[in-house]
Amino acid sequence: MPTVTETLHSRSSKRAYLPKPVPKEIQEKILNAAAMTPSGANMQPWKVIAISNKQVLQNIGDAIIERMGEGFEHDQHIQYYPVNWINPYKKRRIVTGSGLYKLMEVDRKDDDTRLKMWHDNFKWFGAQTVFFVFTDNANIDGAQGALIDCGAYMQSVMLAAQEFGIDSCPQGSTTEFGKVVSRVLEMPDNLSLLYSVVLGYEDKEAKINTYQPKRASLDDTVTFID
Ligand SMILES: Cc1cc2nc3c(=O)[nH]c(=O)nc-3n(C[C@H](O)[C@H](O)[C@H](O)COP(=O)(O)O)c2cc1C
Repeated sequence: MPTVTETLHSRSSKRAYLPKPVPKEIQEKILNAAAMTPSGANMQPWKVIAISNKQVLQNIGDAIIERMGEGFEHDQHIQYYPVNWINPYKKRRIVTGSGLYKLMEVDRKDDDTRLKMWHDNFKWFGAQTVFFVFTDNANIDGAQGALIDCGAYMQSVMLAAQEFGIDSCPQGSTTEFGKVVSRVLEMPDNLSLLYSVVLGYEDKEAKINTYQPKRASLDDTVTFID
């Protein structure tokens, strides 16, 4: 059994899956483990809709793609990405994105293929289980702590999943269309979609799944005060 640090190093986002849902009992094990994520005041601000229903997933994906087709860049509850990208984050985003396109031999100007790759998010990369994580609006009204807690929860889901041979891809792409997700699922107005996580069995033959973007060095991200 790999150690936690080994799992942290070996996990990576997978973007092609076999058409096989994650069994309910494994979903429950993952969700029970993730429920142990620490949160401020133990408020556990996450509300999860775990969907393995093909039709419902297709309805959500189709509705998002349709909304994009109408010219909307987002239809969201929360803004995930920075409004003004600054370096070094901007550079890291560009390097990570261009690395993926280079691996897949997609030209920088090939907008059609790039759009198709983005749409793959809303086809759930072929996976059949997706967790949608919401929080109560009151938790993020003038406060950001619940976002920190739900971010930690995301990592718990993805790490616990690894133990059961389940890979994942976190999705801010659905954050951008959170209101569309809410409409399709007929969610109550008091909830905001924060993100989704695709879960499933990676297609080991798919080249895209070999992508493992590098990280900045500790020199760039950590200051030790000894
Ligand atoms: C909150 C969040 C949102 C993300 N959104 C997307 C997404 O919408 N689509 C996607 O393909 N990858 C998405 N990713 C995956 C990142 O691109 C990926 O985590 C990053 O490039 C590091 O690669 P790794 O996860 O393979 O280590 C997201 C990751 C996080 C944490």
